[in-house]
Amino acid sequence: MMIKKETLTAIAGTLFILGCLSMNSCKKDNEESLRNNPNGEPPPTACDTVGMKYQANVLPILTANCYKCHSANTYRTNSGLNLEDFNTLKAEAANGALLSSIKHTGTVSPMPMGAPQLSECDINKIDSWIKRGALNN
Ligand code: HEC
Repeated sequence: MMIKKETLTAIAGTLFILGCLSMNSCKKDNEESLRNNPNGEPPPTACDTVGMKYQANVLPILTANCYKCHSANTYRTNSGLNLEDFNTLKAEAANGALLSSIKHTGTVSPMPMGAPQLSECDINKIDSWIKRGALNN
């Protein structure tokens, strides 16, 4: 098959332009991330707090950070408060104690007891689940 010289020139030209465009966009991305993170730290990952559900979003946080003292098996000896029982959890959400405890507002004991505060993202997730009505979903 014969390829015309003009066709080859056109293909080469297109590739050249595409290459420039993509290199330029990379350069821009890098400049942007450097400006946002002057120390070269990775950009903070966005915290998704939309449509938070009990099973998928809240339960994993409680299991990892609270069940040591607040599960059905541990609460009797460790806290006296069974947050694995949904109705108890919902009551603590409704009376404000759950949010106050993780936000360290000073109204109730700061939680998790004896451990660093939850990440802002985890706090916001629980907050938004409560705002949606603290549903058992
Ligand atoms: C190391 C044990 C421990 C861990 C872990 C822990 N708690 Fe507690 N929690 C306690 C104890 C003990 C109490 C009861 C004494 C008190 O309120 O100071 C309590 C009380 C509470 C109360 C009731 C506060 C009030 O005054 O009404 C809430 C709400 C609570 N915890 C939420 C949590 C949440 C949410 C987590 C996880 C993010 C968590 N706790 C992790 C030990 C713990």
